[in-house]
Amino acid sequence: MLVRLLYASHAAKETPAGSITAIMQQSHSNNPRQGITGVLCHSERLYLQVIEGGRDQVNALYAKILRDPRHTDAILLHYEEICERRYSGWTMGQVNLNKLNPGTLLRYSALPEFNPHALSGKSSLALIDELMAAASVLGRA
Ligand SMILES: Cc1cc2nc3c(=O)[nH]c(=O)nc-3n(C[C@H](O)[C@H](O)[C@H](O)COP(=O)(O)O)c2cc1C
Repeated sequence: MLVRLLYASHAAKETPAGSITAIMQQSHSNNPRQGITGVLCHSERLYLQVIEGGRDQVNALYAKILRDPRHTDAILLHYEEICERRYSGWTMGQVNLNKLNPGTLLRYSALPEFNPHALSGKSSLALIDELMAAASVLGRA
């Protein structure tokens, strides 16, 4: 049984530079073993992550991520059972939201500022898919 989970959170204020590198290293080392795939979008202020895999593995990883002090205010945006993965080529793709094109953003959002806490889960997933189609994702593995 496969599921897809999407959440957003605020980066912790005292997060040291290099946190994203450390998180990506942990993801690339742990996720293949657990059959986890997905994409992590980030800026200095926030994270938006989509995680796919077996239900037990996704739920366990999300519980672990929620306890991580490197971010706060995590909000679950979307959770669904899926027949097939969308991000099977990425053990955890990486998207830098600072490079987001304002036109792309406005297609899915009321204001030209990226605020996933105010976006629907469907809009956030559509935005991630568009970023992937535009080859904005790093870290294919
Ligand atoms: C925004 C964010 C995303 C994360 N994504 C993942 C992930 O996809 N996979 C993972 O193993 N850890 C991820 N982590 C790190 C976990 O919270 C946790 O620190 C890590 O899995 C512990 O790894 P270890 O058991 O090897 O020490 C993430 C942390 C944050 C703050």
